[in-house]
Amino acid sequence: MTTTQQTRPVLVTGAGGKVGRRVVAGLTAAGRTVRPASRSTPVRLDWEDASTWPAAFAGVGAAFVVPPETIVDLGPFADVVEKAGVERLVLLSARHPEQGGESIVPAFEEAVAAAGIPAVVLRPSWFVQNFTEGMFVPELAGGSLTLPVGDGAEPFIDAADIAAVAVDALLSARHDGRTYELSGPELLTFEQAIALVGAATSRDLAFVAADTAAWAEAAGAELPPALVEQLVSLFTAIRRGDNAHLDTGVQEALGRAPRTFAEALAR
Ligand SMILES: NC(=O)c1ccc[n+]([C@@H]2O[C@H](COP(=O)([O-])OP(=O)(O)OC[C@H]3O[C@@H](n4cnc5c(N)ncnc54)[C@H](OP(=O)(O)O)[C@@H]3O)[C@@H](O)[C@H]2O)c1
Repeated sequence: MTTTQQTRPVLVTGAGGKVGRRVVAGLTAAGRTVRPASRSTPVRLDWEDASTWPAAFAGVGAAFVVPPETIVDLGPFADVVEKAGVERLVLLSARHPEQGGESIVPAFEEAVAAAGIPAVVLRPSWFVQNFTEGMFVPELAGGSLTLPVGDGAEPFIDAADIAAVAVDALLSARHDGRTYELSGPELLTFEQAIALVGAATSRDLAFVAADTAAWAEAAGAELPPALVEQLVSLFTAIRRGDNAHLDTGVQEALGRAPRTFAEALAR
């Protein structure tokens, strides 16, 4: 890390999100000046509006990049990063970036590589926190979760582990150029995961296996078609067993094992 990188702020996009908020906390604990940015922060960054990018990136030494759910034009990205003098990018990608149907994530991987500066790509599995802070929370509040994943297994990862890798990668040159495949340490079906959430929160929670077409029709009443299509693609991959393998990225990056699902819930 150069001296300027050590003194300049670190931009954290997606700063209020499950991973971003933990990255902000980790960098702050490490004594770094952090510039949180999203559509709702004082420094506003909207991936759908490239005119907001230069001010968000201006003068930062490194940036944590969290892609949005929508398809955006990343054409100006490399130019903005270069003009801002950014020296390192850490990207929150996904474990199988191609799995999400029409997802912007692969384009972010390309844009980060094309920026021509040291970069680290994090490819995590599904997060434990989807059940506690994320998309499954509203439905689970009703006591059950209906999904077309069958008994497909997923190695859910603690968002805190992803953030720990991100913080180290933002602060240390030793990860530059790496792509880390990140997963938790155990394979769980959604039924098993929901049972753990129920046990940890003293609630009676049930998993309901859904037929894919029926789930898509019901979801289509509430969600935009592109998002339903993306989720169907992701759930189908889980159902097929495509995700039923463990990765070693947390151990490689941090020299310790990733947290289990139960440990993540307890934290
Ligand atoms: N959840 C999973 O299991 C999982 C697994 C693998 C990879 N991922 C990847 O993780 C990323 C999401 O991370 P997360 O779960 O930590 O975030 P999150 O909890 O979903 O929060 C999204 C964050 O992004 C910001 N944001 C949303 N749209 C934006 C836009 N157009 N411009 C700028 N900021 C925007 C939001 O803030 P504002 O609303 O204030 O803008 C918020 O801070 C996605 O790219 C996804 O592909 C997720």
